Amino acid sequence: MTAVTLFSDESKTMTENASILQRTKKLLKRFSAKSADSAKSDAIRQKISEQRKNVEQWKSGERYSEYYEREMDAVAEVYEEAFHNIDRTYQLEYLKAHGLKPELSLLDYGCGPLGAGIHFIRYLDHGCYVGADISKKFLELGQGWIEKYGLADKGARTFHIPAGDLSPLHGLKFDFVWAQSVITHMPGEDVNYLLSQIGGLMKPEGAFLATFLFPTGEEIAGGVQREGERTWIYGRDFLEQMAARHGLRVRILEDFHHPQEGRKADRKIAVMEVRHA
Ligand SMILES: C[S@@+](CC[C@H](N)C(=O)[O-])C[C@H]1O[C@@H](n2cnc3c(N)ncnc32)[C@H](O)[C@@H]1O
Repeated sequence: MTAVTLFSDESKTMTENASILQRTKKLLKRFSAKSADSAKSDAIRQKISEQRKNVEQWKSGERYSEYYEREMDAVAEVYEEAFHNIDRTYQLEYLKAHGLKPELSLLDYGCGPLGAGIHFIRYLDHGCYVGADISKKFLELGQGWIEKYGLADKGARTFHIPAGDLSPLHGLKFDFVWAQSVITHMPGEDVNYLLSQIGGLMKPEGAFLATFLFPTGEEIAGGVQREGERTWIYGRDFLEQMAARHGLRVRILEDFHHPQEGRKADRKIAVMEVRHA
């Protein structure tokens, strides 16, 4: 019996060797797809970083969110698949575990180009999804994804909130407000502004759930720590006190798992759950 040469094992039958060959081919295919993926993501990362460098810098006297809005618009210009590169159903699953039902209303604050939004829209009843973002260009990309996924008849609405100004949403009330990786990129005064407004957007039993970077060790001095240009870490006392000023109470939930979470020993992604006091 002639054995398959390259990956053969004389002790195995031809069928066994053929199946080894087939498995090896599959592995090679997966490996080369992975290398192609990582080359592609390196090229995208490079493009985004160059584009970000072109953005006019944060000017003194300007709100951070105005600068960040320019940056996000610039990213949207070069990266059409932004936030659609990984499966974001984990956000829907998390909210379902916390009581989201199809008939309940949801504000997806900082929805970007609807990477998670499309899953929420598909799950929720007609008209129950509202997304809001500082980047108009991300929202435009999001409309394209709604069409691509055949969800145009679900009555989803998106609002541009320039530099985070929530007045376009005044008058709306939600069962859930969700913010994934938004607070993480907001300075304290913007989180304070958001908390001053969020109670007005929540129904009496409504909840605002927001992921953020939570220190795992001791409380950080002053309650807030900035890291690099775009990341803030918030301590429990800081958030609780800020929320209390606006008639809200905070609970820190440590049951959230982000598929791309880094492994730094001194922080983890947690969720702050905010409710009317
Ligand atoms: C890291 S992305 C996450 C997008 C989306 N939540 C997801 O998980 O796919 C952060 C988003 O928050 C938006 N954002 C940042 N600051 C904001 C603010 N102050 N108000 C509203 N949106 C903001 C950005 O434009 C961006 O779309």
